[in-house]
Amino acid sequence: MTLISLCPMGSAGGPCYRGSVRHMLKRTHPLYRAFLLAMLALVVGALAACATSGDPPSDYVVVGWNDLGMHCINPSFSQMAILPPANTLWVQVLHRGDPPQIVTSGVVVEYSLVNNTTVAGKTDFWDYVGQLFGVELEPGVGLTGNGLSGKMKLVGDHFEATAIPALPYDDDMTWNPYQTAIVNLKTDKGVLLATTQVTIPVSDELNCAKCHAAGMDGTVNIADTGSVEGNILAVHDYYHGPAGVSDQGISLLDNRPVLCSQCHQDNALGKAGNPADKSLSQAMHGWHASFPDAQCYDCHPGAQTQ
Ligand code: HEC
Ligand code: HEC
Ligand code: HEC
Repeated sequence: MTLISLCPMGSAGGPCYRGSVRHMLKRTHPLYRAFLLAMLALVVGALAACATSGDPPSDYVVVGWNDLGMHCINPSFSQMAILPPANTLWVQVLHRGDPPQIVTSGVVVEYSLVNNTTVAGKTDFWDYVGQLFGVELEPGVGLTGNGLSGKMKLVGDHFEATAIPALPYDDDMTWNPYQTAIVNLKTDKGVLLATTQVTIPVSDELNCAKCHAAGMDGTVNIADTGSVEGNILAVHDYYHGPAGVSDQGISLLDNRPVLCSQCHQDNALGKAGNPADKSLSQAMHGWHASFPDAQCYDCHPGAQTQ
């Protein structure tokens, strides 16, 4: 005989029925009995639907991830660039079985950003990419040739799309630093085998304004240039260019737009820099460490996205 228990969740000692279904129905008023039967029918129906609805699980499992945490990009590239739009997506394809197997052939892996199909009006990166990186790219094409959607490349035992030029704006210009990529696994004849979604985190909050906007601590030795980026280049010129305490080095203000990793080695970009100069990480952290109010989230990449 089926024993049931009708107790509100967590109702220790509260009103509650324990017994068989038949016993419970016998003891209740006919109207309430009809109600109970209807409820039972609903529950059984729902359970049956759970068991039968939906597709059978795919023979394939697709696991994807962005290779970094929040990727930061400059809000504008007209004066200086620390990091360009460049998110890297990795995908591992597995075939279910005992043992499961890593799949690298006979399949195609495609990605596309959701509600983010164009870069138009979202950044000035493509106006300056030639001067900054020495390559001319069509708008929407990233530094390694990938766009906002495309085919992923097989690299060893997994698939990669490097330097996807993701921007934190949906097509309707809603600011959305948690972009989503749909990843589709297909046979080489185009039949869909499995699909997954991956978060593509990208923020353009990095602007250093807390200290480099006009009148703030970072501007005590310079004349305001009218922009945060200009002020940063001016204070670099003051300490390490021709304009202040040093008479060595080149003027960054006179050479806009400036790519910091042209001189300072940069792991995130894989740029060797000038071996005589500090890495960008060492220069930035070492220098700003003497200012106790410099917080990680002032620059990485900002107050909201953190
Ligand atoms: C908490 C405050 C603070 C924040 C945030 C901050 N800075 Fe600074 N920074 C300073 C101060 C203060 C100076 C020195 C100003 C002076 O002595 O004239 C400085 C100097 C600099 C210099 C000149 C260093 C040199 O020796 O040439 C650069 C370059 C610089 N900052 C870049 C940045 C960038 C890029 C960001 C954002 C990613 C940033 N800073 C964020 C406070 C800050
Ligand atoms: C033309 C080469 C060049 C470029 C481009 C350049 N720097 Fe520098 N920077 C130097 C040199 C040289 C120094 C002196 C210390 C060293 O050798 O690294 C320096 C020092 C610094 C320092 C102070 C480090 C310290 O400990 O005194 C910071 C911070 C800094 N740079 C940030 C930046 C940022 C941010 C950018 C991009 C906006 C940038 N630099 C672009 C050459 C450059
Ligand atoms: C004044 C701005 C600033 C502050 C404050 C700051 N960072 Fe950074 N950080 C940078 C820049 C710029 C880079 C280099 C980005 C790149 O490689 O292009 C960097 C790089 C890094 C890296 C990568 C290092 C590497 O070698 O690739 C780590 C990790 C990091 N920061 C952690 C922190 C932590 C933790 C804090 C707080 C304790 C912090 N940062 C505070 C600006 C800052």
